[in-house]
Amino acid sequence: MNIIVGATGQIGSYLISNLKKKNVPLRAVVRNPEKLKDASIEFRKADLFDKDELTKAFEGGTSVFVLTPESQSSDDIIGDTERIVSNYRHAIEQTGIERVVGLSCVGAHINARTGNIRMSGILEQGLNDLEVRKTFIRPSYYFSNWLGYMETMKQYGVLPTFFPENLSIEMNSPLDVAEFIANVMVEEVTDSRDFFELCGPRPYTSGEVARIFSNVLGSPVIPQVIPPDKWQETLLSVGFSENTAMNLADMTRAVVETIAVPERPADMVRLPTTLDDYLISGSA
Ligand SMILES: NC(=O)c1ccc[n+]([C@@H]2O[C@H](COP(=O)([O-])OP(=O)(O)OC[C@H]3O[C@@H](n4cnc5c(N)ncnc54)[C@H](OP(=O)(O)O)[C@@H]3O)[C@@H](O)[C@H]2O)c1
Repeated sequence: MNIIVGATGQIGSYLISNLKKKNVPLRAVVRNPEKLKDASIEFRKADLFDKDELTKAFEGGTSVFVLTPESQSSDDIIGDTERIVSNYRHAIEQTGIERVVGLSCVGAHINARTGNIRMSGILEQGLNDLEVRKTFIRPSYYFSNWLGYMETMKQYGVLPTFFPENLSIEMNSPLDVAEFIANVMVEEVTDSRDFFELCGPRPYTSGEVARIFSNVLGSPVIPQVIPPDKWQETLLSVGFSENTAMNLADMTRAVVETIAVPERPADMVRLPTTLDDYLISGSA
């Protein structure tokens, strides 16, 4: 039985549809069952902060997919992550789960002020000594992060970006990431590495991202760079708490200053979908 945490989220829901096609036993772990897209999927309701609910949700499972959710409103996102990871540990140990696949992030191995990337480090380090088989998946920046600016691009022809216009960043399709995770879960990826670092066919600059959106939308889009001294106030103005704004700013700085880098750059797995194809396919 494959247990999928975060099944109503982006990666979790794509993962469920990929695994369903492979006809493997599946259970979604959700806090809000109404959000589950596929009503035919077995589910258990659990909040990740509730150790007992989570343990019940893992009962009967052999493998589990886990992640560290990001919340804009938290006052202590790092402390929240530590609590969630501690609950994962408890639930895995109590239920005899044999296999853990964790959604992590490029840069998870780095012990520095990397904000949200630290959350992935906490997941990996927090589960590391469990005597079960573990594989961590470390994707690059999701193409889907840009979709939040769609209305701004359509209305004003600008793409706000925290990155310098000409800085190349590795990015990947979240659909490719979910498909890769599904293949790892059913052992179709034969390489038995402890972690996989993922990226797309090539890196993109914000300028290129704006040009691609411009082509897809059929109207001009230019990048509008938000300078570092405006990051925090920009994030606060769109609903982030002081704490989550600080952590997102720290993560952005770690990317811009190339602190958040892959551990084994020569072994990165290049996923196939380009940003153009991701946007044109309409699956975005
Ligand atoms: N964004 C990037 O560029 C990037 C790059 C590399 C790695 N990552 C990793 O990918 C993760 C995000 O994955 P995603 O896009 O699939 O996230 P997502 O769409 O935000 O989904 C998060 C899932 O977690 C669930 N969840 C949140 N808090 C919960 C709680 N207290 N109890 C139970 N369930 C809870 C959500 O449930 P609801 O639907 O009920 O809210 C949702 O199903 C990040 O956290 C990071 O670790 C991100």
